[in-house]
Amino acid sequence: MSLMQRLDKEKKLPEGVERPASDKKSETAERSERTERLISHLNNKPPDISRQMKNRVQEILMKEVEPELLDRSDEPEIQEKLQEKISEVALFILENEHPTMNRTERQRIISEICDEVLGFGPINSLLLDPTVSEVMVNSPNQVYVERKGKLEKTAIHFRDNEHVLHIIEKIVAPIGRRIDESSPMVDARLPDGSRVNAIIPPLALKGPSITIRKFSREPFMVNDLINFGTLTPEMAKFLEACVRVKLNVVVSGGTGSGKTTTLNVLSSFIPSDERIVTIEDAAELQLRQDHVVSLETRPPNVEGKGAIHMRDLVRNSLRMRPDRIVVGEVRGGEALDMLQAMNTGHDGSITTGHANSPRDMISRLETMVLMAGMELPAKAIREQIASAINLIVQQNRLRDGSRKIINITEVQGMEGDTIVLQDIFVFEQKGIDDNGKIIGRLKASGIRPKFYDLFERSGIHLPPDLFSVY
Ligand SMILES: Nc1ncnc2c1ncn2[C@@H]1O[C@H](COP(=O)(O)OP(=O)(O)OP(=O)(O)O)[C@@H](O)[C@H]1O
Ligand SMILES: [Mg+2]
Repeated sequence: MSLMQRLDKEKKLPEGVERPASDKKSETAERSERTERLISHLNNKPPDISRQMKNRVQEILMKEVEPELLDRSDEPEIQEKLQEKISEVALFILENEHPTMNRTERQRIISEICDEVLGFGPINSLLLDPTVSEVMVNSPNQVYVERKGKLEKTAIHFRDNEHVLHIIEKIVAPIGRRIDESSPMVDARLPDGSRVNAIIPPLALKGPSITIRKFSREPFMVNDLINFGTLTPEMAKFLEACVRVKLNVVVSGGTGSGKTTTLNVLSSFIPSDERIVTIEDAAELQLRQDHVVSLETRPPNVEGKGAIHMRDLVRNSLRMRPDRIVVGEVRGGEALDMLQAMNTGHDGSITTGHANSPRDMISRLETMVLMAGMELPAKAIREQIASAINLIVQQNRLRDGSRKIINITEVQGMEGDTIVLQDIFVFEQKGIDDNGKIIGRLKASGIRPKFYDLFERSGIHLPPDLFSVY
């Protein structure tokens, strides 16, 4: 059924009520009006002014308003006060910078900013605070944040479980999701793109729990990762070359180790004349290229129907003439479709997966392929993996909170029943300093990858000493 037919059907009349004749006659006109609306909605990107302004208004609010007030933004009187303040600041900026803008447009921008800035209650100030990268509500009296890779408990409290639940509802309702006893887990996104997971009793024993991975307004670029010490300039050059010559790469790592961030950086190396299709459970990637189609999976509806899984999207993407397929994270059966795509001419695909070492990544992939439900012998699966994947980038979150690429490993092929792996770069830990920071260095293993010739043939000349141990 087409989208338009569905929209039409949804507009059902109550039982027993006949659609009036005039209504029937105007159906076509109505439909085309709806198509128009839908198209204009799809074309209507949020204006940049409102987005840029939101960030500035937020910064001013953080400076001028007590954080406690921001955290009580779900109390009606406080909300009113904050709304006044936001309007005042926003109006001032608009009058100065866009004096010709009409009243209606101004009002619209101001109310958009109010909606975005307010409304998440006790965790508002944390969401506005740029030094916080993750917010975790375990129970009404236990709210943790992550700052610079380290977890800290905050002094923030919710009134009770009801209050936490209320905030969850505020987050999920606008995007058409719901949370209740029959569907007690939900993934959602905040208006700024931050990823939210909420889970409530009976599954969460201590009460409703929220985890928010904040969206950085400016995604980290390769130079940021070099400055953080996640990788060296040499490793970055090597990875860039690997992406340009269309090797298939898997970024492997534990939870929160920075896989998606690294995937985003690797994707930034894809030449801008290639067509990229991205597939994610919750859209997090922020690609700079123009020619990108982003797809997102969909959870089932209230009746448990209509779910669209990763597998469906990976298969669909093959019919979209992709030059590159970027899969946010492989977790299950989609690994088989992904490997098959890589083995049938869709080179240059990049994905991430959850594993603790490159070898572990290989066995995870084997397990995921089995999850596709096809009875394949282990050797056949391994052969598929060995011929599809060229490179594994292992990233870990170290004990001191830093994120490091600790192996860049080539998948060389099969020897008997085993997949042969060869490290090209490794992190060598030397010790820990007085402040608990891990000391070590990232270095080449001294071995040139087997696909080195591919670089030369593609006109990419890497310095010969890039792979030397120094
Ligand atoms: N190289 C890095 N150095 C420092 N911080 C980083 C680095 N990469 C990512 N981060 C931060 O770490 C957090 C987790 O990053 P990211 O979402 O990329 O991890 P992930 O491994 O994809 O997580 P998940 O397993 O939840 O999908 C984010 O707050 C991000 O800003
Ligand atoms: Mg991720």
